[in-house]
Amino acid sequence: MKAAVVYSTLTGNMKKVAEAFCTGLGEGAEIFDVANAPDPAEFDLVAIGFWVDRGHPDQKSMDYMKKITGKKVFSFFTLGAKPKSAHAFKCAYTAASYYGSGCEQIGSWHCQGAIDPKLIEQMRKMPKVPGNPHAATPETEARWAAAASHPDAEDLAAATEAAKAVRQIVTGEDPYAELKAKLKAEGKI
Ligand SMILES: Cc1cc2nc3c(=O)[nH]c(=O)nc-3n(C[C@H](O)[C@H](O)[C@H](O)COP(=O)(O)O)c2cc1C
Repeated sequence: MKAAVVYSTLTGNMKKVAEAFCTGLGEGAEIFDVANAPDPAEFDLVAIGFWVDRGHPDQKSMDYMKKITGKKVFSFFTLGAKPKSAHAFKCAYTAASYYGSGCEQIGSWHCQGAIDPKLIEQMRKMPKVPGNPHAATPETEARWAAAASHPDAEDLAAATEAAKAVRQIVTGEDPYAELKAKLKAEGKI
């Protein structure tokens, strides 16, 4: 399987996740910064790793996604919001709409990512008016603090595991091949 992992990052969260994801994809996977993204036509799978910018993939990722047509694609992202939030779910749904025509979406994966401290400072200066989801409140401060330790080792291990499953889906490999070989060698099957 020839796979391209194309990532975009501002503060480094997605680079770490993309490297873990590429490791999980295994043989035939190559990693590229979106600034040096390859022609998608050369690959069986294109996995796009983006950071969430106002509910959408960041601009550079979106621009590249639009150019991909007729490929198996997988999206993964980091975001400041809680990973189980409706916002996270909507980000995944929205991202799916940016690919070019004829793409087969294998799925998507995400985890939380530390928010740029400069952005947090800006949000702390916002007026605390009802309905402003970004204003500093005990809840938003708690959310920003929770995001600060991500992606952590558990997130990176999970990204690697997700990528292994993506590989099996794309190649049609038997996920139990290793176990079966072991049991066979032991005469158990
Ligand atoms: C301009 C800007 C907009 C952002 N918009 C969102 C957003 O809409 N939702 C969200 O959950 N996180 C948002 N974030 C947080 C980032 O998506 C998050 O911190 C991500 O992990 C950054 O990844 P990176 O380190 O690879 O750049 C935003 C961050 C910035 C700087």
